[in-house]
Amino acid sequence: MAGEPEQKADAVASSSPAVPLNDLKRGYEALAEELEAAATRVLRNGWYVHGPEHQAFEREFGEYLGGVECIGVGNGTDALEISLKSLLPSPGSVVVTAANAGMYSSTAIRRAGLIPRYADVDPETLLLTPESVEAVLGDDVSVVVVTHLYGRLADVAGIRAVARARGVAVLEDCAQAAGAGEPGRRAGGLGDVAAFSFYPTKNLGALGDGGAITTRRPDVAEQARRLRQYGWEAKYRVGQDGGRNSRLDELQAAFLRVRLPHLDDWNQRRREVIARYVEAADGVRVRVLPASGADHVGHLAVLVAQDRAAVRAALDAAGIQSDVHYPVPDHQQAPFVDHFASVSLPVTEEMAGRILTLPCFPELGKDEVDRVCTVLRDL
Ligand SMILES: Cc1ncc(COP(=O)(O)O)c(C=O)c1O
Repeated sequence: MAGEPEQKADAVASSSPAVPLNDLKRGYEALAEELEAAATRVLRNGWYVHGPEHQAFEREFGEYLGGVECIGVGNGTDALEISLKSLLPSPGSVVVTAANAGMYSSTAIRRAGLIPRYADVDPETLLLTPESVEAVLGDDVSVVVVTHLYGRLADVAGIRAVARARGVAVLEDCAQAAGAGEPGRRAGGLGDVAAFSFYPTKNLGALGDGGAITTRRPDVAEQARRLRQYGWEAKYRVGQDGGRNSRLDELQAAFLRVRLPHLDDWNQRRREVIARYVEAADGVRVRVLPASGADHVGHLAVLVAQDRAAVRAALDAAGIQSDVHYPVPDHQQAPFVDHFASVSLPVTEEMAGRILTLPCFPELGKDEVDRVCTVLRDL
């Protein structure tokens, strides 16, 4: 509706259904005092862009990820686009990516003047694999984008091995996987470069838009720092073509600094919620994708059902909100459908009609989880 604030479907207001898919207000309330103190600090400081909060967040997030360089940007899609450009791919070259990850990588690939090519995903994990990537690699490929979908670490080492053999770089899309892995081997430090989103529903969410690029490669970090700010190598001196303005603002950086120390606990809580769903769905006609262990941070609780409409109707009847991440594979999105008409991705296409996302966020109450479990058990 005109004039209404835009929110993605997974960021619903708290007053909606009995069990909402997400409730951002609860996340604010849990840390209200600290978040408000952080906002006040920024307002009173008078430095609103690339100030001390931003510098501190870059340092703290880089340390959390195991000593990587961190470059704050405006959102996750910008992080993907600038990461791609930082790798200096040949103009017009091909980027391999998955088609089941919400069109974000495709958007960034097009914005960077590159061409997407899709690899299919594994039917158990819904992630790219070294084999599926290798099947579509060619001399025209410059980069592979690996999305840690739903919070689960993909096999970056395996994909890197097949990519490296052809001189192809690997970009991790960590938007859904902040904190996945273990200290020293975390998402964001495994490929050549990585992109994070701090969209409010993410595991590490801001109170508005935000994003970051991380890398262990000093050359890539230098390019990214230039490209996020007009291509400047020094103030008002452009050293790199293709730059733009994408900055993580000072308020969001301050909020993220309040939230980062809680990330591991929140990720654990998400895993516990998903473990309850897995247990409840044992023996019924749906499969809940498990999220156990450090390599999964339970960003989304996703089930696979033969008859998704019936499952959704049962959830609806119990006042439980659900959604689909994502209903249309990238190669079948309207602007692409003619161009990719001959592309067939059997697993991606089948799963788009079977997946369903259940409520999962750290502040979800025990009674709410019980309510979802009752519906799952009765399926
Ligand atoms: C996998 C993935 N990549 C990229 C993005 C883009 O992030 P943003 O919305 O901050 O641009 C998102 C989330 O929105 C995402 O889930």
